[in-house]
Amino acid sequence: MDFKELIMGRYATKKFDGRKIDDETLDQILEMVRFSPSALNIQPWKIKVIADNDLKAKLSPASMDQAQIKTCSHLLVFCANTDLKGNAKKLVNGLNAAGIPQENVEQYQRVLDNFINIFASNELCEAQNNVFIAATTVLYAAKSVGVDSCPMQGFDPKAYMEILELPSNLIPTIIVPMGYPADEQMPKNRFPKEEIFF
Ligand SMILES: Cc1cc2nc3c(=O)[nH]c(=O)nc-3n(C[C@H](O)[C@H](O)[C@H](O)COP(=O)(O)O)c2cc1C
Repeated sequence: MDFKELIMGRYATKKFDGRKIDDETLDQILEMVRFSPSALNIQPWKIKVIADNDLKAKLSPASMDQAQIKTCSHLLVFCANTDLKGNAKKLVNGLNAAGIPQENVEQYQRVLDNFINIFASNELCEAQNNVFIAATTVLYAAKSVGVDSCPMQGFDPKAYMEILELPSNLIPTIIVPMGYPADEQMPKNRFPKEEIFF
C-alpha cells in the first residue's frame, strides 16, 4: 500500500470485530511508533498497551461507553510524560554509554537544559504536543500492516489515571483502540483545499 492509499484508507473505526492482533504484527506496529519524531528527541511519552478484556471493560464507562473500547484487540493509552528532566538525563546517559564525544554530549545537554527551562511549568503542554505526533504515527503504522484504529479523546483522563494507577507525571492524552473492523468506512468529508491552504 503506498502512502496515499494509507491516508485515504485509514478511517476512524467505530467498532471492531474482537479478533486479536497477533504478537508479531503488534510488535511491528509498536516498533514503528517508537521511531516517532519529538522535539530534541525528548520522547515525552509512555504508552500503555492493554489487551485484557476485563481492564477494557473497566475503562469503558470512563470512555463514554464508546464501542471501540470493548471490541478492540488492543487499546493504546498515550500518556504525556511531564518528567522532561528525567528523559533528558536518560538521553545524555545513553549518549555517554554509546561513547559519543564528551564535547558533543555537553553541547546537546546545554540545548536540552535550555529547552527544559523554556517549558518549565508548561511541561504538560509540550509533552502533549509531542504525544499527538506519536499517536498519529500509530494510525498509519497500524494501517500499513492491515490493522484499523481510531484516535479518541472522548474519555476521562482522571478516571484513566485512577483505574490504571498511573503516577502523577503520566497524563493520558489520547487513546487509540486497534483491531479489525466491524463497520464500513464512510466517505471522507474534508474542507476544500482553498479553505485550508493560503
Ligand atoms: C483528537 C481526536 C479525538 C477524537 N476523538 C474521537 C472519539 O472520542 N470517538 C470517535 O469515535 N472518534 C474520535 N475521533 C475521530 C474523528 O471523529 C475522525 O478522525 C474524523 O471525523 C475524521 O474521520 P476519519 O478519521 O474517518 O477520516 C477523534 C479524532 C481526533 C483526531
